[in-house]
Parts: sequence; C-alpha cells; structure tokens
Amino acid sequence: MNYKRNLFISFEGPEASGKSSQLRLLSKYFHLNNIPHLVTREPGGTTNAEKLRKIILNKKESITPTEEILLLMAARLNHINKVIKPALKAGKIVISDRFADSTFVYQGFVNNYGMQKTISLHKIFLDNFLPQKTFLFLLSPKQINKRLQNRKISNKYDKINPSFHAKVIKGYKKLSNNNKRFCIIKGDTSIEHIHDKIVKELNI
Ligand code: TMP
Repeated sequence: MNYKRNLFISFEGPEASGKSSQLRLLSKYFHLNNIPHLVTREPGGTTNAEKLRKIILNKKESITPTEEILLLMAARLNHINKVIKPALKAGKIVISDRFADSTFVYQGFVNNYGMQKTISLHKIFLDNFLPQKTFLFLLSPKQINKRLQNRKISNKYDKINPSFHAKVIKGYKKLSNNNKRFCIIKGDTSIEHIHDKIVKELNI
C-alpha cells in the first residue's frame, strides 16, 4: 500500500470529545496496513516533557499563565526535536494527541493570555512548526459534561463546568475558521463513522 511519508497529524478538541479513542483506532488501522507511524501526546511525548506535564496539569500547585505557556513551549520544543522530527525524518507518520492548537485555545483564548500573542510566541520559539492536518473534535458543552460525569477527573482542565467547555469550543471554532489545516469532526456520531471519515480524509 502506498502511504504518505513525513506526515504530521494532530487530534484536537475539548475534554471527552472522543479524540483519544479515535487516535487509537487510526493507529490500529495503520498497524494493520503496515504503515510506519508513531503515536505521541502533549503535554508530554518525551521523558522531560512528561515531567513538565505533571507540573503544568497539577491541581494543587498553581502556576501563572506566563509560566504555564513557557513550560508548555519548552516541553513542545523538546518533543519536536527529540521525537517528532526524527520520526518524520525516518519516514513515519506522526499522530499527536494535542499539539500547539491546545495552547492557542486553552492558554491564549480561554485563560485570556491572547490567542494572537500565543501564536506569535509559537512563531518565535518554535519556528511555527505545525501539523499538516488537524482533526478537530467538537461536541456541545452539554454533551461534554454528560460524558465527564462518568469519568474520573484527572487534571485541572477536566472541570465539570459548562461555561469553561463552551469557551474551549468557541476558541477552537475561532482558530479553525477558514483554515484548511483543520478537518472538523462531529464527536456525537458513531465511532465507525468518524473513523471512516478520518481515513477518507487522509486518503492513505
Ligand atoms: P488530555 O491529555 O486528557 O487531552 O488533557 C490534557 C489537558 O491539558 C487538557 O485539559 C488540555 C490541557 N492542555 C493545555 O491547556 N494546553 C496545551 O498546550 C496542551 C497540549 C494541553
């Protein structure tokens, strides 16, 4: 089977949108079709970045918005240099569960640091390194809360708070508007239907 090499894909969306399950399904599909790939996540993806993840998502010890952005970007740079670029160079497809768009939305928009300011910092520090394709999973805040009620709260952003999730969704919509990199996935359709849509969109 012919496949696209050096492809960097990210999965984005609010909490409980179904992105991580779909990412696992896509990885299984690649595996079954002998397509070399690497699955990773943010914040994290390297030993040091996973350490920073613990600090960033800690519920007990808070950090300032600027500290949070700097830690996220430091973790990301380490992730890009140590994992993503080498895998792409080796001809693999890289799929990341969240990437820079999460920072633009959660820190830039939701936490009011400024979306444009955050995008500018990404251009300066990370050379504007972005995925070629981003699958953006969207659900209504009501649906998210319903799903989260059945889940263990694991980090400080897993809040059961409709206005928080509504702002996350608004931020993603603003960011993805008129941007061809994004493929919008309605998270409330069937798992099989979403998987087929993703595979079709990738045209692999
Ligand atoms: P997840 O791994 O379950 O998707 O959760 C990671 C959390 O981290 C999620 O609530 C969003 C948050 N996050 C940010 O706030 N900024 C970022 O740049 C990234 C990558 C994640």
